[in-house]
Amino acid sequence: MHRRLVTSAVTAALCGTTLAGTATSASAAPQAVDCRKVKCVALTFDDGPVADTQRLLRVLNDRKVRSTFYVVGQNVQKKPSIVRDAALAGHQIGNHSWDHADLTKLSAAKVKSQLSRTDTAVKQATGKKPTTFRAPYGAHNATVRSAAGRPLVHWSVDTLDWKYRDPARIIKTVNQTTKPGDIILLHDIHRTTVDAVPGIIKALKARGFHFVTVDQLFAPAKLPSGKVTYHNRAAYRP
Ligand code: NI
Repeated sequence: MHRRLVTSAVTAALCGTTLAGTATSASAAPQAVDCRKVKCVALTFDDGPVADTQRLLRVLNDRKVRSTFYVVGQNVQKKPSIVRDAALAGHQIGNHSWDHADLTKLSAAKVKSQLSRTDTAVKQATGKKPTTFRAPYGAHNATVRSAAGRPLVHWSVDTLDWKYRDPARIIKTVNQTTKPGDIILLHDIHRTTVDAVPGIIKALKARGFHFVTVDQLFAPAKLPSGKVTYHNRAAYRP
């Protein structure tokens, strides 16, 4: 299913642009991992894309790690090829609003606009609209949840990478707090976070974790629209 989705995204992306693709659909297909049977974790990267996201993609792709990017629409508009490359490599793209506003201060119409503008930018870049949403600052209310019209995916491991720009500290926090089924919050807009990713992958791989996208973390279940999800710890039965 994922292979087919990615392939159609590739086709759509290539039809809509003259940029040459580099990834192949074969390399883009995520590993078949059943997170009900093995230890899974979802790395999530918020607020990009920025130029350094390309370095992060090399780190992830070299290690065959799939992740999820919660992208800001206005950044997608500036750097669509990075989002396209991420999707081609099998990463999931999620919606993180148009300009990272606190949506709890906006009307329903404005919240919808924040999401739909970002949907359009991502679709133009990848051929596919994001199916999950993460509220900026994790801030939501009934209006935001309803207007989002899709699942809200937040996190269970907060690395505070935006506050502590120290790769060793970020690696330590992740390694000390991550449990099977967790969703880890990271930000690819900080160089120190990208610097930490090889160490995060090494530490969690040594503990037997599989790195999956948000959709894979919950599969075969589908997340409910308008509800906030923080992790899938309950799914893992050793
Ligand atoms: Ni954010």
